[in-house]
Amino acid sequence: MSKSTQKKNAVPLSKEAQSIRGSIPVAIVAAVAGLLFGYDTGVISGAILFLKTDFHLSATSEEFVVASVLVGAILGAMAGGFMADRFGRRKMLIVAAIVFGGAALVTAFTPNMALLIAGRIGVGIAIGSASFTAPLYISEIAPARIRGALVSLNQLAITSGIVVAYLVDFLFAGTQDWRAMFGLAVIPAAMLLVGMLLMPRSPRWLMGHGLQNEAVTAMKRLRQDVSRELVEIKHDIIPKSSNGVKLWTPALRPVIIIGVGLAIFQQITGINTIVYYAPTIFEMAGMHSASVAILATFGVGMANVLMTLVAIRLVDRVGRRPLLLYGTAGMVVSLGALGIIFHLSGISGILAWITLISLVVYVASFAIGLGPVFWLLISEIYPLVVRGRAMSLATIMNWASNLLVTLSFLSLIRWMGRGNTFWLFGAIGIGTWAFIYYLVPETKGRSLESIEQGSSAEKSPDLALLPPHV
Ligand code: BGC
Repeated sequence: MSKSTQKKNAVPLSKEAQSIRGSIPVAIVAAVAGLLFGYDTGVISGAILFLKTDFHLSATSEEFVVASVLVGAILGAMAGGFMADRFGRRKMLIVAAIVFGGAALVTAFTPNMALLIAGRIGVGIAIGSASFTAPLYISEIAPARIRGALVSLNQLAITSGIVVAYLVDFLFAGTQDWRAMFGLAVIPAAMLLVGMLLMPRSPRWLMGHGLQNEAVTAMKRLRQDVSRELVEIKHDIIPKSSNGVKLWTPALRPVIIIGVGLAIFQQITGINTIVYYAPTIFEMAGMHSASVAILATFGVGMANVLMTLVAIRLVDRVGRRPLLLYGTAGMVVSLGALGIIFHLSGISGILAWITLISLVVYVASFAIGLGPVFWLLISEIYPLVVRGRAMSLATIMNWASNLLVTLSFLSLIRWMGRGNTFWLFGAIGIGTWAFIYYLVPETKGRSLESIEQGSSAEKSPDLALLPPHV
Protein backbone atom coordinates (compact mmCIF):
# COMPACT_ATOMS: atom_id res chain seq x y z
CA MET A 1 0.00 0.00 0.00
CA SER A 2 1.38 3.39 -0.97
CA LYS A 3 2.03 6.02 1.65
CA SER A 4 -0.70 8.28 0.30
CA THR A 5 -3.34 5.49 0.43
CA GLN A 6 -2.22 4.66 3.96
CA LYS A 7 -2.70 8.30 4.85
CA LYS A 8 -6.16 8.34 3.27
CA ASN A 9 -7.21 5.15 5.08
CA ALA A 10 -5.83 6.23 8.45
CA VAL A 11 -8.65 6.75 10.89
CA PRO A 12 -8.42 10.33 12.15
CA LEU A 13 -7.97 10.55 15.88
CA SER A 14 -11.10 11.72 17.65
CA LYS A 15 -10.95 15.20 19.12
CA GLU A 16 -10.96 13.67 22.58
CA ALA A 17 -8.09 11.28 21.79
CA GLN A 18 -6.07 14.13 20.36
CA SER A 19 -6.87 16.16 23.39
CA ILE A 20 -5.54 13.65 25.90
CA ARG A 21 -2.47 12.57 23.96
CA GLY A 22 -0.22 15.34 25.24
CA SER A 23 -0.44 14.21 28.86
CA ILE A 24 0.83 10.66 28.23
CA PRO A 25 4.55 11.42 27.61
CA VAL A 26 4.51 13.84 30.54
CA ALA A 27 3.21 11.08 32.84
CA ILE A 28 5.84 8.65 31.51
CA VAL A 29 8.67 11.09 32.28
CA ALA A 30 7.41 11.71 35.84
CA ALA A 31 7.02 7.94 36.36
CA VAL A 32 10.82 7.53 36.03
CA ALA A 33 10.71 8.60 39.70
CA GLY A 34 8.80 5.35 40.35
CA LEU A 35 11.50 3.37 38.54
CA LEU A 36 14.08 4.82 40.93
CA PHE A 37 11.81 4.07 43.92
CA GLY A 38 11.54 0.41 42.88
CA TYR A 39 15.18 0.01 41.85
CA ASP A 40 16.65 1.60 44.95
CA THR A 41 14.44 -0.36 47.36
CA GLY A 42 14.89 -3.66 45.49
CA VAL A 43 18.64 -3.50 44.87
CA ILE A 44 19.61 -3.94 48.52
CA SER A 45 18.42 -7.57 48.66
CA GLY A 46 21.38 -8.66 46.49
CA ALA A 47 23.89 -5.96 47.44
CA ILE A 48 23.64 -6.73 51.16
CA LEU A 49 25.13 -10.20 50.67
CA PHE A 50 28.45 -8.71 49.49
CA LEU A 51 28.39 -5.64 51.75
CA LYS A 52 28.23 -8.06 54.66
CA THR A 53 31.57 -9.60 53.78
CA ASP A 54 33.31 -6.39 52.60
CA PHE A 55 32.46 -4.38 55.72
CA HIS A 56 32.24 -7.32 58.18
CA LEU A 57 28.70 -6.32 59.16
CA SER A 58 27.13 -7.71 62.32
CA ALA A 59 23.45 -8.75 62.19
CA THR A 60 22.43 -5.42 63.75
CA SER A 61 24.47 -3.28 61.37
CA GLU A 62 23.12 -5.35 58.49
CA GLU A 63 19.57 -4.47 59.59
CA PHE A 64 20.66 -0.86 59.90
CA VAL A 65 21.99 -0.72 56.34
CA VAL A 66 18.77 -2.26 55.00
CA ALA A 67 16.57 0.04 57.11
CA SER A 68 18.52 3.26 56.41
CA VAL A 69 16.72 3.82 53.09
CA LEU A 70 13.35 3.53 54.84
CA VAL A 71 14.41 6.02 57.56
CA GLY A 72 15.50 8.40 54.77
CA ALA A 73 12.15 7.90 53.01
CA ILE A 74 10.25 8.94 56.15
CA LEU A 75 12.40 12.10 56.35
CA GLY A 76 11.91 12.80 52.61
CA ALA A 77 8.13 12.38 52.89
CA MET A 78 8.13 14.78 55.87
CA ALA A 79 10.08 17.50 54.08
CA GLY A 80 8.39 17.05 50.70
CA GLY A 81 4.78 17.93 51.54
CA PHE A 82 5.26 21.53 52.51
CA MET A 83 7.77 22.02 49.70
CA ALA A 84 5.50 20.55 47.01
CA ASP A 85 2.71 22.95 48.01
CA ARG A 86 5.04 25.94 48.34
CA PHE A 87 7.51 25.52 45.44
CA GLY A 88 5.53 23.30 43.08
CA ARG A 89 5.41 19.66 42.02
CA ARG A 90 7.81 19.91 39.07
CA LYS A 91 10.51 21.66 41.07
CA MET A 92 10.28 18.98 43.77
CA LEU A 93 10.80 16.21 41.21
CA ILE A 94 13.83 18.06 39.81
CA VAL A 95 15.36 18.35 43.29
CA ALA A 96 14.58 14.67 43.97
CA ALA A 97 16.35 13.66 40.72
CA ILE A 98 19.48 15.55 41.79
CA VAL A 99 19.43 13.92 45.25
CA PHE A 100 18.80 10.48 43.68
CA GLY A 101 21.86 10.89 41.43
CA GLY A 102 24.17 12.42 44.05
CA ALA A 103 23.31 9.80 46.68
CA ALA A 104 23.76 6.96 44.16
CA LEU A 105 27.31 8.21 43.49
CA VAL A 106 28.06 8.45 47.23
CA THR A 107 26.97 4.83 47.77
CA ALA A 108 28.91 3.64 44.71
CA PHE A 109 32.22 5.26 45.71
CA THR A 110 32.01 5.17 49.51
CA PRO A 111 35.26 4.31 51.29
CA ASN A 112 33.51 3.32 54.53
CA MET A 113 30.32 2.16 56.26
CA ALA A 114 29.38 5.56 57.70
CA LEU A 115 29.28 7.19 54.27
CA LEU A 116 27.44 4.19 52.87
CA ILE A 117 24.68 4.63 55.44
CA ALA A 118 24.63 8.42 54.83
CA GLY A 119 24.31 7.76 51.07
CA ARG A 120 21.49 5.26 51.58
CA ILE A 121 19.66 7.75 53.82
CA GLY A 122 20.10 10.31 50.99
CA VAL A 123 18.64 7.84 48.48
CA GLY A 124 15.77 7.32 50.93
CA ILE A 125 15.10 11.06 51.20
CA ALA A 126 14.75 11.25 47.41
CA ILE A 127 12.49 8.16 47.35
CA GLY A 128 10.29 9.47 50.17
CA SER A 129 9.64 12.83 48.53
CA ALA A 130 9.31 11.51 44.98
CA SER A 131 7.06 8.60 46.04
CA PHE A 132 4.13 10.97 46.44
CA THR A 133 5.19 13.96 44.31
CA ALA A 134 5.21 11.85 41.12
CA PRO A 135 1.60 10.60 41.55
CA LEU A 136 0.59 14.10 42.67
CA TYR A 137 2.06 15.77 39.57
CA ILE A 138 0.64 13.13 37.20
CA SER A 139 -2.80 13.37 38.79
CA GLU A 140 -2.85 17.15 38.28
CA ILE A 141 -1.80 17.04 34.62
CA ALA A 142 -4.05 14.07 33.68
CA PRO A 143 -7.47 14.28 32.00
CA ALA A 144 -10.10 12.79 34.38
CA ARG A 145 -11.00 9.99 31.95
CA ILE A 146 -7.56 8.35 32.02
CA ARG A 147 -6.21 9.70 35.31
CA GLY A 148 -6.27 6.27 36.99
CA ALA A 149 -4.17 4.70 34.24
CA LEU A 150 -1.69 7.58 34.05
CA VAL A 151 -1.10 7.78 37.81
CA SER A 152 -0.76 3.98 37.97
CA LEU A 153 2.07 4.18 35.42
CA ASN A 154 4.10 5.25 38.43
CA GLN A 155 3.30 1.94 40.18
CA LEU A 156 4.16 0.09 36.96
CA ALA A 157 7.53 1.84 37.06
CA ILE A 158 8.00 0.90 40.75
CA THR A 159 7.36 -2.78 40.05
CA SER A 160 9.57 -2.70 36.92
CA GLY A 161 12.33 -1.02 38.96
CA ILE A 162 12.17 -3.87 41.49
CA VAL A 163 12.53 -6.49 38.72
CA VAL A 164 15.40 -4.56 37.07
CA ALA A 165 17.13 -4.44 40.46
CA TYR A 166 16.75 -8.22 40.89
CA LEU A 167 18.26 -8.69 37.42
CA VAL A 168 21.16 -6.29 38.04
CA ASP A 169 21.87 -8.04 41.37
CA PHE A 170 21.91 -11.34 39.55
CA LEU A 171 24.23 -10.05 36.78
CA PHE A 172 26.76 -8.55 39.19
CA ALA A 173 26.57 -11.37 41.74
CA GLY A 174 29.47 -13.18 40.04
CA THR A 175 31.85 -10.26 40.50
CA GLN A 176 30.28 -9.31 43.87
CA ASP A 177 30.20 -5.73 42.57
CA TRP A 178 27.78 -4.01 44.95
CA ARG A 179 29.21 -0.61 43.93
CA ALA A 180 27.96 -1.08 40.37
CA MET A 181 24.58 -2.25 41.71
CA PHE A 182 24.14 1.06 43.57
CA GLY A 183 25.86 3.26 40.97
CA LEU A 184 23.67 2.26 38.02
CA ALA A 185 20.80 4.28 39.53
CA VAL A 186 22.59 7.39 38.21
CA ILE A 187 21.22 6.62 34.72
CA PRO A 188 17.47 6.88 35.53
CA ALA A 189 18.26 9.81 37.89
CA ALA A 190 19.80 11.75 34.98
CA MET A 191 16.84 10.80 32.76
CA LEU A 192 14.41 12.12 35.37
CA LEU A 193 16.38 15.35 35.78
CA VAL A 194 16.60 16.15 32.06
CA GLY A 195 13.04 14.97 31.43
CA MET A 196 11.47 17.06 34.19
CA LEU A 197 13.39 20.16 33.14
CA LEU A 198 11.52 19.91 29.82
CA MET A 199 8.06 19.25 31.29
CA PRO A 200 5.38 21.89 32.04
CA ARG A 201 4.45 22.87 35.59
CA SER A 202 1.18 21.56 37.04
CA PRO A 203 -1.64 23.82 35.75
CA ARG A 204 -3.66 23.18 38.89
CA TRP A 205 -0.79 24.19 41.18
CA LEU A 206 -0.25 27.34 39.06
CA MET A 207 -3.94 28.24 39.22
CA GLY A 208 -3.95 27.68 42.98
CA HIS A 209 -1.11 30.21 43.21
CA GLY A 210 -2.97 32.80 41.16
CA LEU A 211 -0.73 32.32 38.09
CA GLN A 212 -3.55 32.11 35.53
CA ASN A 213 -1.59 32.94 32.37
CA GLU A 214 1.10 30.41 33.23
CA ALA A 215 -1.64 27.82 33.94
CA VAL A 216 -3.16 28.38 30.48
CA THR A 217 0.26 28.02 28.81
CA ALA A 218 0.97 24.80 30.75
CA MET A 219 -2.46 23.38 29.94
CA LYS A 220 -1.99 24.13 26.22
CA ARG A 221 1.08 21.88 26.25
CA LEU A 222 -1.04 19.07 27.71
CA ARG A 223 -4.30 19.23 25.73
CA GLN A 224 -5.55 20.48 22.41
CA ASP A 225 -8.86 21.64 23.76
CA VAL A 226 -8.22 23.35 27.06
CA SER A 227 -11.20 25.66 27.35
CA ARG A 228 -13.75 23.48 29.16
CA GLU A 229 -11.32 22.13 31.75
CA LEU A 230 -9.78 25.52 32.38
CA VAL A 231 -13.18 27.10 32.94
CA GLU A 232 -13.93 24.40 35.48
CA ILE A 233 -10.58 24.71 37.24
CA LYS A 234 -10.87 28.52 37.23
CA HIS A 235 -14.36 28.31 38.66
CA ASP A 236 -13.46 25.86 41.40
CA ILE A 237 -9.97 26.83 42.44
CA ILE A 238 -9.76 29.93 44.52
CA PRO A 239 -6.09 30.88 44.89
CA LYS A 240 -5.22 30.44 48.53
CA SER A 241 -2.06 30.06 50.50
CA SER A 242 -1.82 26.70 52.23
CA ASN A 243 -0.06 28.32 55.17
CA GLY A 244 -2.08 27.91 58.32
CA VAL A 245 -4.68 25.58 56.76
CA LYS A 246 -5.01 22.74 59.24
CA LEU A 247 -5.28 19.11 58.17
CA TRP A 248 -7.20 17.86 61.21
CA THR A 249 -10.47 19.77 60.75
CA PRO A 250 -14.00 18.30 60.70
CA ALA A 251 -14.18 18.83 56.92
CA LEU A 252 -10.85 17.16 56.14
CA ARG A 253 -10.90 14.46 58.83
CA PRO A 254 -12.70 11.75 56.77
CA VAL A 255 -10.27 12.01 53.83
CA ILE A 256 -7.25 12.18 56.13
CA ILE A 257 -8.43 8.98 57.84
CA ILE A 258 -8.96 7.27 54.46
CA GLY A 259 -5.48 8.22 53.16
CA VAL A 260 -3.60 7.37 56.35
CA GLY A 261 -5.63 4.17 56.84
CA LEU A 262 -4.90 2.92 53.31
CA ALA A 263 -1.23 3.91 53.72
CA ILE A 264 -0.86 1.76 56.84
CA PHE A 265 -2.92 -1.15 55.51
CA GLN A 266 -0.91 -1.19 52.25
CA GLN A 267 2.14 -2.07 54.34
CA ILE A 268 0.90 -4.08 57.33
CA THR A 269 -0.68 -6.68 55.08
CA GLY A 270 2.94 -7.72 54.48
CA ILE A 271 3.84 -6.89 50.85
CA ASN A 272 7.44 -5.98 51.56
CA THR A 273 8.14 -9.15 53.53
CA ILE A 274 7.81 -10.75 50.09
CA VAL A 275 9.54 -8.00 48.06
CA TYR A 276 12.53 -7.82 50.44
CA TYR A 277 12.69 -11.39 51.79
CA ALA A 278 11.38 -13.58 48.93
CA PRO A 279 14.53 -15.75 48.68
CA THR A 280 14.45 -16.34 52.47
CA ILE A 281 10.79 -17.40 52.27
CA PHE A 282 11.54 -19.78 49.40
CA GLU A 283 14.33 -21.28 51.44
CA MET A 284 11.90 -21.79 54.35
CA ALA A 285 9.59 -23.50 51.85
CA GLY A 286 12.23 -26.05 51.01
CA MET A 287 13.82 -24.57 47.86
CA HIS A 288 17.42 -24.99 48.84
CA SER A 289 19.07 -24.23 45.51
CA ALA A 290 20.04 -20.55 45.26
CA SER A 291 19.35 -20.40 41.52
CA VAL A 292 15.84 -21.85 41.95
CA ALA A 293 15.16 -19.27 44.70
CA ILE A 294 16.40 -16.44 42.48
CA LEU A 295 14.27 -17.65 39.58
CA ALA A 296 11.22 -17.94 41.83
CA THR A 297 11.86 -14.41 43.15
CA PHE A 298 12.06 -13.13 39.59
CA GLY A 299 8.73 -14.88 38.83
CA VAL A 300 7.08 -13.12 41.77
CA GLY A 301 8.50 -9.78 40.57
CA MET A 302 7.12 -10.37 37.06
CA ALA A 303 3.68 -11.24 38.45
CA ASN A 304 3.78 -7.85 40.19
CA VAL A 305 4.57 -6.04 36.91
CA LEU A 306 2.05 -7.93 34.78
CA MET A 307 -0.86 -7.53 37.17
CA THR A 308 -0.10 -3.81 37.49
CA LEU A 309 -0.58 -3.65 33.70
CA VAL A 310 -3.97 -5.31 34.13
CA ALA A 311 -4.83 -2.77 36.85
CA ILE A 312 -3.90 0.08 34.49
CA ARG A 313 -6.34 -1.28 31.90
CA LEU A 314 -9.14 -1.69 34.42
CA VAL A 315 -8.86 1.20 36.86
CA ASP A 316 -10.70 3.80 34.76
CA ARG A 317 -13.29 1.27 33.52
CA VAL A 318 -14.38 -0.72 36.57
CA GLY A 319 -13.25 1.88 39.09
CA ARG A 320 -11.01 2.03 42.16
CA ARG A 321 -13.27 0.31 44.71
CA PRO A 322 -13.79 -3.02 42.89
CA LEU A 323 -10.04 -3.35 42.27
CA LEU A 324 -9.30 -2.66 45.93
CA LEU A 325 -11.98 -5.05 47.20
CA TYR A 326 -11.17 -7.97 44.86
CA GLY A 327 -7.41 -7.44 45.26
CA THR A 328 -7.57 -7.42 49.06
CA ALA A 329 -9.81 -10.52 49.06
CA GLY A 330 -7.19 -12.32 46.92
CA MET A 331 -4.48 -11.33 49.38
CA VAL A 332 -6.50 -12.70 52.33
CA VAL A 333 -7.12 -16.05 50.59
CA SER A 334 -3.47 -16.52 49.57
CA LEU A 335 -2.19 -15.51 53.02
CA GLY A 336 -4.59 -18.06 54.53
CA ALA A 337 -3.14 -20.72 52.20
CA LEU A 338 0.44 -19.75 53.08
CA GLY A 339 -0.42 -20.02 56.77
CA ILE A 340 -1.80 -23.54 56.26
CA ILE A 341 1.26 -24.62 54.25
CA PHE A 342 3.68 -23.40 56.90
CA HIS A 343 1.66 -25.13 59.64
CA LEU A 344 2.20 -28.48 57.95
CA SER A 345 5.41 -30.05 59.09
CA GLY A 346 8.17 -30.83 56.59
CA ILE A 347 7.48 -28.84 53.43
CA SER A 348 8.83 -30.52 50.35
CA GLY A 349 8.16 -31.26 46.68
CA ILE A 350 4.63 -30.29 45.75
CA LEU A 351 4.17 -28.04 48.81
CA ALA A 352 7.14 -25.89 47.79
CA TRP A 353 5.38 -25.29 44.48
CA ILE A 354 2.07 -24.53 46.19
CA THR A 355 4.00 -21.96 48.24
CA LEU A 356 5.26 -20.38 45.04
CA ILE A 357 1.74 -20.30 43.56
CA SER A 358 0.30 -18.76 46.76
CA LEU A 359 3.00 -16.09 46.76
CA VAL A 360 2.33 -15.28 43.10
CA VAL A 361 -1.44 -15.00 43.80
CA TYR A 362 -0.72 -12.79 46.82
CA VAL A 363 1.57 -10.41 44.92
CA ALA A 364 -0.76 -10.37 41.89
CA SER A 365 -3.69 -9.46 44.16
CA PHE A 366 -1.67 -6.63 45.71
CA ALA A 367 -0.69 -5.45 42.24
CA ILE A 368 -4.27 -5.17 41.06
CA GLY A 369 -5.52 -3.39 44.17
CA LEU A 370 -3.67 -1.86 47.11
CA GLY A 371 -0.41 -1.40 45.18
CA PRO A 372 -1.49 1.12 42.52
CA VAL A 373 -4.83 2.24 43.95
CA PHE A 374 -3.44 3.51 47.28
CA TRP A 375 -1.08 5.96 45.52
CA LEU A 376 -3.81 6.90 43.05
CA LEU A 377 -6.47 7.62 45.66
CA ILE A 378 -4.24 9.80 47.82
CA SER A 379 -3.51 11.90 44.72
CA GLU A 380 -7.27 12.37 44.16
CA ILE A 381 -9.12 12.77 47.44
CA TYR A 382 -7.49 15.87 48.94
CA PRO A 383 -8.37 19.51 48.17
CA LEU A 384 -5.72 21.37 46.19
CA VAL A 385 -4.83 23.75 48.99
CA VAL A 386 -3.54 20.93 51.24
CA ARG A 387 -2.87 18.22 48.63
CA GLY A 388 0.91 18.14 49.04
CA ARG A 389 0.84 18.19 52.84
CA ALA A 390 -1.98 15.65 53.15
CA MET A 391 -0.29 13.27 50.68
CA SER A 392 2.94 13.71 52.58
CA LEU A 393 1.23 12.67 55.84
CA ALA A 394 -0.16 9.50 54.26
CA THR A 395 3.25 8.81 52.71
CA ILE A 396 5.08 9.25 56.05
CA MET A 397 2.70 6.69 57.60
CA ASN A 398 3.28 4.36 54.63
CA TRP A 399 7.08 4.41 55.02
CA ALA A 400 6.91 4.22 58.83
CA SER A 401 4.66 1.12 58.60
CA ASN A 402 7.03 -0.32 55.99
CA LEU A 403 9.94 0.15 58.42
CA LEU A 404 7.98 -1.46 61.26
CA VAL A 405 7.07 -4.56 59.23
CA THR A 406 10.55 -4.89 57.69
CA LEU A 407 12.27 -4.73 61.07
CA SER A 408 9.84 -7.02 62.87
CA PHE A 409 9.19 -9.73 60.23
CA LEU A 410 12.05 -12.07 61.11
CA SER A 411 11.43 -11.60 64.85
CA LEU A 412 7.69 -12.28 64.35
CA ILE A 413 8.54 -15.54 62.64
CA ARG A 414 10.82 -16.52 65.52
CA TRP A 415 8.20 -15.53 68.08
CA MET A 416 4.93 -16.84 66.67
CA GLY A 417 6.05 -19.18 63.87
CA ARG A 418 5.79 -18.88 60.08
CA GLY A 419 2.20 -20.07 59.73
CA ASN A 420 0.83 -17.71 62.38
CA THR A 421 2.78 -14.76 60.94
CA PHE A 422 1.07 -15.19 57.56
CA TRP A 423 -2.30 -15.66 59.29
CA LEU A 424 -1.70 -12.43 61.19
CA PHE A 425 -1.20 -10.60 57.87
CA GLY A 426 -4.34 -12.35 56.57
CA ALA A 427 -6.40 -11.20 59.58
CA ILE A 428 -5.18 -7.64 59.02
CA GLY A 429 -6.25 -8.10 55.38
CA ILE A 430 -9.82 -8.80 56.54
CA GLY A 431 -9.76 -5.52 58.51
CA THR A 432 -8.40 -3.76 55.41
CA TRP A 433 -11.26 -5.10 53.29
CA ALA A 434 -13.86 -3.80 55.78
CA PHE A 435 -12.10 -0.41 55.95
CA ILE A 436 -12.26 -0.11 52.14
CA TYR A 437 -15.85 -1.34 51.93
CA TYR A 438 -17.19 1.14 54.47
CA LEU A 439 -14.99 4.20 53.94
CA VAL A 440 -13.26 4.45 50.58
CA PRO A 441 -15.06 6.52 47.90
CA GLU A 442 -15.19 5.91 44.13
CA THR A 443 -13.35 8.61 42.19
CA LYS A 444 -13.43 7.10 38.68
CA GLY A 445 -14.05 9.57 35.86
CA ARG A 446 -14.50 12.64 38.09
CA SER A 447 -12.39 15.75 37.81
CA LEU A 448 -10.21 16.60 40.80
CA GLU A 449 -12.39 19.69 41.25
CA SER A 450 -15.63 17.71 41.38
CA ILE A 451 -14.06 15.34 43.92
CA GLU A 452 -12.97 18.37 45.96
CA GLN A 453 -16.51 19.83 45.80
CA GLY A 454 -17.81 16.50 47.08
CA SER A 455 -19.92 15.96 43.97
CA SER A 456 -20.17 12.42 42.66
CA ALA A 457 -20.35 13.36 38.97
CA GLU A 458 -19.51 16.45 37.09
CA LYS A 459 -23.10 16.81 35.97
CA SER A 460 -24.73 16.18 39.34
CA PRO A 461 -22.75 18.19 41.81
CA ASP A 462 -25.18 17.62 44.65
CA LEU A 463 -24.10 14.13 45.69
CA ALA A 464 -21.62 13.87 48.48
CA LEU A 465 -18.23 12.16 48.32
CA LEU A 466 -19.35 8.91 49.81
CA PRO A 467 -18.99 5.24 48.93
CA PRO A 468 -21.81 4.30 46.53
CA HIS A 469 -23.59 2.01 48.98
CA VAL A 470 -23.96 4.65 51.74
C1 BGC B 1 4.49 0.02 47.84
C2 BGC B 1 5.89 -0.47 48.14
C3 BGC B 1 6.08 -1.85 47.54
C4 BGC B 1 5.72 -1.84 46.06
C5 BGC B 1 5.75 -3.24 45.52
C6 BGC B 1 4.27 0.05 46.36
O1 BGC B 1 2.98 0.50 46.06
O2 BGC B 1 4.30 1.32 48.38
O3 BGC B 1 6.11 -0.50 49.53
O4 BGC B 1 7.42 -2.27 47.68
O5 BGC B 1 4.44 -1.27 45.84
O6 BGC B 1 5.20 -3.34 44.27
